[in-house]
Amino acid sequence: MAENKKIRFAVVGCGHIGKCHVEMIYGNAESELVALCDEKPQSELGIENYGVNFFQSIEELLFADLNLDVINICTPNGLHADQASLVLDKGIHVVIEKPIGLSTEKCQKVIDKSVANGKHVFAVMQNRYSPPSIWIKEVIEQKILGNIFMVQLNCYWNRDSRYYKVGGWKGTQELDGGTLYTQFSHFIDIMYWLFGDIENIQGRFSDFMHKDSTDFEDSGIVSFDFKLGGMGSLNYSTAIATQNLESSITIIGENGSVKIGGQYMNEVEICNIEGYKMPKLPDANPPNDYGKYKGSAANHHYIIQNVIDTLKGRTNVTTNAEEGLKVVDIIERIYQKR
Ligand SMILES: NC(=O)c1ccc[n+]([C@@H]2O[C@H](COP(=O)([O-])OP(=O)(O)OC[C@H]3O[C@@H](n4cnc5c(N)ncnc54)[C@H](O)[C@@H]3O)[C@@H](O)[C@H]2O)c1
Repeated sequence: MAENKKIRFAVVGCGHIGKCHVEMIYGNAESELVALCDEKPQSELGIENYGVNFFQSIEELLFADLNLDVINICTPNGLHADQASLVLDKGIHVVIEKPIGLSTEKCQKVIDKSVANGKHVFAVMQNRYSPPSIWIKEVIEQKILGNIFMVQLNCYWNRDSRYYKVGGWKGTQELDGGTLYTQFSHFIDIMYWLFGDIENIQGRFSDFMHKDSTDFEDSGIVSFDFKLGGMGSLNYSTAIATQNLESSITIIGENGSVKIGGQYMNEVEICNIEGYKMPKLPDANPPNDYGKYKGSAANHHYIIQNVIDTLKGRTNVTTNAEEGLKVVDIIERIYQKR
């Protein structure tokens, strides 16, 4: 692709996170926002008028032949894989919000379509761009902590009836899929990115606060072994009263220990490694703001830049479809224990 060509984007699903994609595309000098698509009429979306084409179905958007380079799928989870498959079959690269699908079978179909059509899949796992994530990835890769003995992931957020609206997709089995898909897949991705795959999964699950508002558990205690050595646990809940408590990872290694905490794994709280001085990290971006509900890191501009850089041959996809599938595979195997 020519170095000076603007990358032509369309966004499907213009809700909370879709608007964020739109802003990041609009604000990047190397990209061009060409079209928007949402099943709701544009007047109901509260979205700025960017003076671009608007479509009420992905089929109409694809039929319009707008010479698009990339389509960003920002619809409910349960629609991602099928919509991404349509995009790839049209010969267009696709950015897929997390999770890339709600079953490994559907994610595999996305990978097959990507290969068959020679088009990229960019999975959105923007927490990988947070300074503590970049730092700990290097620490693990350089074996500074030595062998890894134990990893504990704690994800405790508040999601109450103001989040799970009657008639909405959040909380439904078919379109949401579960707490681990919608709230905590970023943290499972970071764990997988650092330590690889898991096995010997055991779990206990409970629904403390969401019996009337969701189809699934709100809390769980999960334990497992890492295939590369060491054992781990994941404790999670959306039944935390009033506000998010934390998303943290504690790593116990042969040479020391690290804890990265904060509400969304944004602060290195402890770094105690023999003979190692931690560098000063840049400040993490604030979380995405959903009013009362703080979410994951506001790093979507890195995702859009990664798409541009990849298509212009400057770099590679940060989170590819195979990695997107692995996160879904891990969650699927955890949920088989419910
Ligand atoms: N990366 C992150 O940090 C992050 C943060 C929040 C949400 N997400 C993901 O983004 C996706 C959207 O979440 P949200 O919070 O923006 O939800 P939302 O409900 O605010 O927005 C979803 C939009 O999709 C539209 N839609 C539904 N079905 C459609 C269809 N068939 N065709 C076109 N449009 C359709 C809805 O009308 C709505 O406007 C989810 O998959 C979620 O997991 C990711």
